[in-house]
Amino acid sequence: MKPVKYLEHMKGTKHKLSYKLAVTYGLIFILAVAIVDVALAYVYQASQLKKNENYYMNLCSILSSMAENSIKITNYIATGEGLADQKNGRVLLVDASGRVLLDSGNELAGTHLTNPEFRKTIQHGEPAVGYYTHDNKGMAMFSYPVTISGRVSAVVLISVYIQDIYNDINRFTLVIAAISITVTVIVVAASFIVDRRLSDPITRLTGAVNEIYKGNMEAAAAVEVKRDDEIGVLAGALNKMGSELKRIEAGRKRFISDVSHELKTPLAAIKALVEALIAGEGEEDSDGNGDKHGNRYDDGYKEYSMEYLQDINHEIDRMNNLVISLLAATRLEEMPLKKEPLVLSEEAEHTIKALRSLAAQKRITLQNNCESGVIIHADRHMLQEVLVNLVDNSIKYGVDDGSGYVKIGCSKSSFWVEDNGCGIPPEDIDSIFDCFYRVDKSRSGESGNGIGLYIVKRIIELHGFKVSVSSELGKGSMFTVEFP
Ligand SMILES: Nc1ncnc2c1ncn2[C@@H]1O[C@H](COP(=O)(O)OP(=O)(O)O)[C@@H](O)[C@H]1O
Ligand SMILES: [Mg+2]
Repeated sequence: MKPVKYLEHMKGTKHKLSYKLAVTYGLIFILAVAIVDVALAYVYQASQLKKNENYYMNLCSILSSMAENSIKITNYIATGEGLADQKNGRVLLVDASGRVLLDSGNELAGTHLTNPEFRKTIQHGEPAVGYYTHDNKGMAMFSYPVTISGRVSAVVLISVYIQDIYNDINRFTLVIAAISITVTVIVVAASFIVDRRLSDPITRLTGAVNEIYKGNMEAAAAVEVKRDDEIGVLAGALNKMGSELKRIEAGRKRFISDVSHELKTPLAAIKALVEALIAGEGEEDSDGNGDKHGNRYDDGYKEYSMEYLQDINHEIDRMNNLVISLLAATRLEEMPLKKEPLVLSEEAEHTIKALRSLAAQKRITLQNNCESGVIIHADRHMLQEVLVNLVDNSIKYGVDDGSGYVKIGCSKSSFWVEDNGCGIPPEDIDSIFDCFYRVDKSRSGESGNGIGLYIVKRIIELHGFKVSVSSELGKGSMFTVEFP
């Protein structure tokens, strides 16, 4: 079968789910990526600045120990020795009062300095770092104590432009942002495609459900979703439901046509009989003077009209029986099961009592061979219906030469009705539980309608039991019900 595409109902909602999922995934992904990006940029910046700091602190410490050991550092300072790029940096030697002793820039010697790094180093005797912006450029300031006989007597100060490092960090941030945006776009697009794979079958399933709602049972059975996830399971369930609905629908149609057919035969017979009566009524007697009682019609007409009326009555009885059986069959589905423990031998006895006179008419003996003490959990009324139907059949299809018998027997988990009647032809055995099925209409006479065994089967199924039959033509039949 081709996959069903019932998408018309879904126009507005077509890909809502996949959009929603893609947007949700996209937002979650963007958030996650943004957090990772910020963390990366932070770690990168910290590591770059630390590297720079280590380098200059090292330089500071060398200059400081030279000063401590009274090595002339004037030249070093004057040339900005050790600074990567002289223009980018400046080295100062400042005494404890803040007066600049030496300046690699040759500008500040003799002036007073009070910047925070200097103050911190003087007060606590430890190195300090500060970051600034100067001329729109990033700048770092390092200070380092010069300790002579346990006293901080001077401070080495280095200031450098670190805009290169900031530019580097900005480039790095830009690159990871670009990568993140690209990956996000790819992820959102991919998730849209994947989500459509998810939402498309749901759309198809919804379409099929809508079709079922409209009465098109084929739709559900035709949804084709080959997946092994929850959606696949759902599609499978819908498929099964569809086939079941189809089966029920077909059964309903067949049932209606069977009922109509069953009613058609007696109705046609009644109509023919009534028409004959009407036609006969017009035929006045032959001499035209009426009969000896002064009636207008012949005795012949009266005779056959009585016969016809009896036939009509008989047909009406048949129809009545049919309707009663049908009502009984339909009521089965509505009545709640009132299960109770029942003693089988007592129930069999009850059935035999009810059908004894019917059996006597055909000189058939009824025997109760049930073991005493076998209990069945069943609805009493329905169990009687089963037993009466089975025994009634055995009587109806039994021999009437005086040798006929019907035996009811039971064991711990089954009971059976056995007869030595005409038996059932093998080709019919599979169908006898179907509604309206009769093996041979002539052999059940006018009394059968083929609903009895159908009712038996439904009752047994409602109880969760199993019924089966074995039979040999001309020898007899045995119907067995198994119960747990
Ligand atoms: N004990 C039996 N012996 C022989 N044939 C039977 C027996 N029980 C049922 N059948 C066959 O199965 C058919 C269906 O039975 P049932 O549904 O009770 O219909 P009905 O009794 O109205 O004919 C009967 O028409 C009959 O041919
Ligand atoms: Mg019957």
